[in-house]
Amino acid sequence: MTDFRAFRVHLENERIVARLERLRLDDLSPGDVVIRGAWSGINYKDALAATGKGKILRRYPLVAGIDISGTVESSADPRFRPGDPVVVIGCGLSETHDGGYSEFARLPGDFLNPLPAGLDLREAMAIGTAGFTAAYALHRMERNGQHPALGPIAVTGATGGVGSVAIDIFSRRGYRVTALTHKTGADDYLRALGASEVQRLDEATLGNRPLERATWGGAMDNLGSSVLSWLIRSVVPLGNVASIGLAAGPELNTTVMPFILRGVSLIGVNSPDVPRETRLAVWQRLGSDLRPAHLDRIVTREVALGELPGCFDAHMTGRMTGRTLVRLG
Ligand SMILES: NC(=O)c1ccc[n+]([C@@H]2O[C@H](COP(=O)([O-])OP(=O)(O)OC[C@H]3O[C@@H](n4cnc5c(N)ncnc54)[C@H](OP(=O)(O)O)[C@@H]3O)[C@@H](O)[C@H]2O)c1
Repeated sequence: MTDFRAFRVHLENERIVARLERLRLDDLSPGDVVIRGAWSGINYKDALAATGKGKILRRYPLVAGIDISGTVESSADPRFRPGDPVVVIGCGLSETHDGGYSEFARLPGDFLNPLPAGLDLREAMAIGTAGFTAAYALHRMERNGQHPALGPIAVTGATGGVGSVAIDIFSRRGYRVTALTHKTGADDYLRALGASEVQRLDEATLGNRPLERATWGGAMDNLGSSVLSWLIRSVVPLGNVASIGLAAGPELNTTVMPFILRGVSLIGVNSPDVPRETRLAVWQRLGSDLRPAHLDRIVTREVALGELPGCFDAHMTGRMTGRTLVRLG
């Protein structure tokens, strides 16, 4: 190929500017494997990066997009051969390394995961960082003793990407799931993914006692702030709360009571930095026992690379339901 299209973020006059451009391979950060992009997706972090509402990029300019799936075009890494299907999430894409919103990507072999059996390239990006993070959190909660008999799992930010996949895979594993959402009119969507209950989340729900009634067997939180604090105070003895996101804010105000009186565990989840062995194991599970059953419903929008510029605002305002797939080819 001579040149190809990519969606790149610049810092110009102290403002973030993102646009489609034509690039050559040598414009990309170094790597020993070249991938022909097939699919990417939009995560909350992609919206922060593309709109400049969050400081995601550590250097400029960089191709945006924290996820990509595609086939190996050429490789100097003996583990990969032309034609191999691969999936890449996190690993510094769109932070320190050119990312996935590109017809071609050049990446270090260590970033690449072979496409797991049981998924195709499109399904892998329907899952993307959002779904991987939900699966990784479930994996860690279960290693720390979570099981369906402890009680229902509360999932916040339920209609978002992480929330949607979390509902799907927890219910598939035999948990009762309560979807907590700000949206009215999302009940049918959430129940179709496997939620047994849907609750509207507002400040009145949250209370302010050091310990609330022990309601949840465990929780997966995408919001942070007062919602995370309430979940920690509302989980049964020995339950786990996975802290994934900060869509409502980064602060956390808590006492130690839930930890020392109920043995609650707070599990921090940082999907870009999962050790390679664990990352491969979780991807394998996503193609088998944790394979989401409702990806067709979860993908609510499919856009071409050229349509990206108008696609981020819905994430920044919490209006997004489900996942957006980005067609690169
Ligand atoms: N730690 C990690 O490794 C990791 C990995 C992936 C994502 N994350 C984080 O997890 C969170 C969810 O990511 P995502 O990709 O699922 O995002 P998303 O698709 O944009 O969904 C976010 C959801 O959060 C809810 N929300 C509530 N208040 C919001 C607000 N003020 N602004 C925006 N959303 C609001 C909305 O759901 P309801 O209307 O249903 O309440 C919204 O659909 C983000 O904070 C993201 O940064 C962290």
